[in-house]
Amino acid sequence: TRVAILISGGGSNMVALTRSMLGDPGHPAEPVLVLSNDPAAKGLEHAAALGVPTAAVDHRPFRGDRAAFEAEMAKPIRESGAELICLAGFMRVLTTGFIESWRGRMLNIHPSILPLFTGLHTHARALEAGMAVHGCTVHEVTPELDAGPILGQAVIPVLPDDTPETLAGRLLPVEHQLYPAVLRRFVAGDRRKLAILAAGDAPG
Ligand code: GRF
Repeated sequence: TRVAILISGGGSNMVALTRSMLGDPGHPAEPVLVLSNDPAAKGLEHAAALGVPTAAVDHRPFRGDRAAFEAEMAKPIRESGAELICLAGFMRVLTTGFIESWRGRMLNIHPSILPLFTGLHTHARALEAGMAVHGCTVHEVTPELDAGPILGQAVIPVLPDDTPETLAGRLLPVEHQLYPAVLRRFVAGDRRKLAILAAGDAPG
């Protein structure tokens, strides 16, 4: 399965996905494109270093015309022959039309235990809510933001002195475990949900 990965920034999840595909000759998927809405995204450099074709479509010239921006993005995606899209730190909201055209063929990773904390600032909101656990979710993308069918989740403890930054920092490596494992199952047609319970209880 030919996979296009959409990013907006550092692309650490993209790197994890790409390494998992390139690192295993028997992997059923291959990365054919890394596309960013920000031409300056550091993830584009990481993708190039890994030998994956890259493209950038700056969303700013399109201002509020999402459909026009997506029509521009569709060109490199089509040219790459991608059959599946993985959103990985992609920070633009996609229109229903674009999502419907990729229904069942577009995944996303969200840094919360969905359906809790859809949207932004999930780590701070988990701390504000006094959660004992936090985590991330890989789901199929549907028009409703952060609400599609859940394919896998990973859970970590919240530590007493956690800040949004320390919590995010502990979650990111776990995201890098979850997303590649879910992608592998998804392209293999295995629809069993994946649950990763990260070891280590919070002290006290
Ligand atoms: C991560 O928290 C991820 O869950 C969210 O964007 C953040 C940065 O991801 N989608 P990445 O390092 O750009 O992959």
